[in-house]
Amino acid sequence: MRVKVLVIGGGAREHALCRSLSLDPDVTSLHCAPGNAGIAEVAELHAVDALDGAAVADLAVGLGADFVVVGPEAPLVAGVADAVRARGIDCFGPTAQAAALEGSKAFAKDVMAAAGVPTARSYVCTTADEIDAALDAFGAPYVVKDDGLAAGKGVVVTGDLAAARAHALSCDRVVIEEYLDGPEVSLFAVTDGVTVVPLQPAQDFKRALDADEGPNTGGMGAYSPLPWADPALVAEVERTVLQPTVDELRRRGTPFAGLLYAGLAITSRGVRVIEFNARFGDPETQVVLARLKTPLAGLLRAAATGQLAAFPPLRWSDGAAVTVVIASYNYPDTPRTGDPISGLDEVAEKDEHAYVLHAGTKLADGRVVSAGGRVLSVTATGSDLAKARDRAYRAVDRIGLDGGHHRTDIAAKAAGL
Ligand code: AMP
Ligand code: GLY
Repeated sequence: MRVKVLVIGGGAREHALCRSLSLDPDVTSLHCAPGNAGIAEVAELHAVDALDGAAVADLAVGLGADFVVVGPEAPLVAGVADAVRARGIDCFGPTAQAAALEGSKAFAKDVMAAAGVPTARSYVCTTADEIDAALDAFGAPYVVKDDGLAAGKGVVVTGDLAAARAHALSCDRVVIEEYLDGPEVSLFAVTDGVTVVPLQPAQDFKRALDADEGPNTGGMGAYSPLPWADPALVAEVERTVLQPTVDELRRRGTPFAGLLYAGLAITSRGVRVIEFNARFGDPETQVVLARLKTPLAGLLRAAATGQLAAFPPLRWSDGAAVTVVIASYNYPDTPRTGDPISGLDEVAEKDEHAYVLHAGTKLADGRVVSAGGRVLSVTATGSDLAKARDRAYRAVDRIGLDGGHHRTDIAAKAAGL
């Protein structure tokens, strides 16, 4: 297979996708839109409004791309993958209808109920009376979720009833649910709408500060594998969560083909789904792809073309991967941008097993500067988590970003520290 690929998006997830695609011998040329300063080193960048399906499809046709990979949720929910397919180009990413699994928490709950998938008990509320009744029914800690897409900021988990109530009242439609105790796991599956191929599990660190303090973020770091997890976990989740969800969406006439992300809580009463996403997770993708040895383009294209049943088993490295996110001053509140970033060349020269994936960066007057809340995702591999972690933090220490911050405890507990 010789394939010309266009990736839509411009975060660290897309940098990780582009890095893997650039290492795939089948990929003859690689394009990304809009991309960022790091992606520019492995792919040719193009300006595009990623939410405009017609513009993305025009770009793909103009480039003569054989295959488009849509990274973020917002274009998927806006129907960008549909617009690309309508022009006869293979595309990895679900239809807008199937992406509602991420775009609407109430829809996801409905699918899970129909498919018998274990998740937190919940109420969908639109009035103050319904909100008060639901908060009262579950008690503290309160879990309040905006129904729509909110870039990781729609969920409030708090013991403070007034704060829970205020957040609920600020949403048009809100899901209030039972609190799930226990460690979280992110498990991704590639699916063509029928066959499900789970990837390796990873763990994300959602809170801004060490020891899981501070506000929720998009994710401050991740690692894989999970030495503490039951080896049967992936097979169990495939059987109880991933396959039933894919089957239910197909039954409804809206098959889900693309990346199905299950955010799970491992509770004392068993595995429960916290959320579904319709795309690769960020920063978990950075560590999962660091361990995937199967060339990526063939896998994603098999999913996009209904060929997964015949796809050979995935190959994985036995080693570990860790990624640490460096965020801007004041992230996740209103992040400051435009700060120069130093030390990138030093990591490239000195750290053989570490590399820097760019999230919010851009080139300004020939210098790489911050351009978003999460700025870099510093990733390293090693024979075990402790080695990968050491290498990731050594690389983090070489990088300078004025006012930047990162967590110092990514993968520490899992590495036995
Ligand atoms: P979500 O956007 O649904 O993934 O929620 C963001 C974060 O809020 C999750 O990663 C969890 O840390 C937390 N969270 C969401 N739902 C629950 C729940 N039912 N119980 C406990 N924590 C939750
Ligand atoms: N890391 C969480 C997410 O991608 O939604």
